[in-house]
Amino acid sequence: MSVLSGKHILLGVTGSIAGYKAADLASKLAQAGALVDVLLTSSSEKFITPLTFQSVTGRRAYTDADLWGNEAHVLHLSFGKTADLLVIAPCTANTIAKLAHGIADNLLTVTALAAQCPLVIAPAMDGGMFDHSATQENLAKLKERGEIIVGPAEGHLASGLTGKGRMVEPAEIFGHIRMVLGRKGKLAGKKVLVTAGGTQEALDPVRVITNHSSGKQGYALAQAALDSGADVCLVTAPTALSAPVGARVIKVTSAQEMLDAVMSESADALIMAAAAADFRPTLAAKNKLKKRDGIPQVELTAAPDILKTVASSQLSPKRFKVVVGFAAESQNLLANASEKLKSKKLDLIVANDISANDSGFAVETNRVTLLFANGTKEVLPLMSKMEAAEKIIEHTSKLLE
Ligand code: CTP
Repeated sequence: MSVLSGKHILLGVTGSIAGYKAADLASKLAQAGALVDVLLTSSSEKFITPLTFQSVTGRRAYTDADLWGNEAHVLHLSFGKTADLLVIAPCTANTIAKLAHGIADNLLTVTALAAQCPLVIAPAMDGGMFDHSATQENLAKLKERGEIIVGPAEGHLASGLTGKGRMVEPAEIFGHIRMVLGRKGKLAGKKVLVTAGGTQEALDPVRVITNHSSGKQGYALAQAALDSGADVCLVTAPTALSAPVGARVIKVTSAQEMLDAVMSESADALIMAAAAADFRPTLAAKNKLKKRDGIPQVELTAAPDILKTVASSQLSPKRFKVVVGFAAESQNLLANASEKLKSKKLDLIVANDISANDSGFAVETNRVTLLFANGTKEVLPLMSKMEAAEKIIEHTSKLLE
């Protein structure tokens, strides 16, 4: 994952039962290619051990015992200089208070004071402690300073009560970390609109006509655009996926709704990865079609072609400076894609051979060819949908230059 690979992340862990979730976060970061140094406070060691973290990061984890002796008296300074990001998850009310007031009495807080990198804080505590005006004032102070506070979430608390205080899930903290790391990327200050998923066209209140699109490529594109610092709007048809952290999401069902959503926005780039319907039932029955009434004869009508509508409405200044489309083809891939590139007035089309079983709908990988409006093409080898997304975003940002 390019936004995290080689990045030096400091993960501070403080005394909370949510410490076990920090091991999952450390593992996710390490798997994404980050160099993760974990700093445990002495209270956190009551819940979880340095060995747990060493086992998932492949690097030694640090405790307050490392604060003194050998070269360790300057450990916090070197951490503070080299780190790309410091995340404290879980972060107790006590550590939040220390951070707010610049108290530096253990390896983690001394490092936080020396650090010159962004700080992400994931609070974890009982509801009453979170609601306490001291904690609220401390958090307000940290926010004002530009620190990123993620959560806490509502739910079951260690006290047995329900309320706001649970640390948010590692996947969400991970999403915030990549957003912070990407914010100075090539698309910083640019807006990207991505569509994803297969639209659904109603036959009656319970039945729809849809297609096999999983939305994976579109969601990966939204994530890759966020990783490059873009402001991302994701217009999505129903999928089983969670939207990337940081994307503004507009949920739609039909091609008409997707068209309305796209035409209500403007952006530097539009990337139409959605499999929007080409046909829809002329009339959706108001009530459920009953078997006893016989097999229905469904008449179909053309659904709106979103890219063609965009192309014919591009005034000056253009609603979208760069438009990227996809061509899902089971035969004559390049000829069909090239025809769509012209008829839909695209800057780039991603030709996708859906007849291959390792490419296209539902699978994790894609084998695509990029065709550009200037007649050039780039054949990409089989790669994950995230890698394909990163390539497409790289080209989109070049087209915007
Ligand atoms: N598309 C669109 N509106 C539709 C259908 C498709 O804007 N109603 C977009 C897709 O998001 C994609 C591009 O058009 O970026 C090509 O989609 P594809 O399904 O490959 O082609 P179609 O234009 O639908 O033509 P056909 O199905 O006949 O191949």
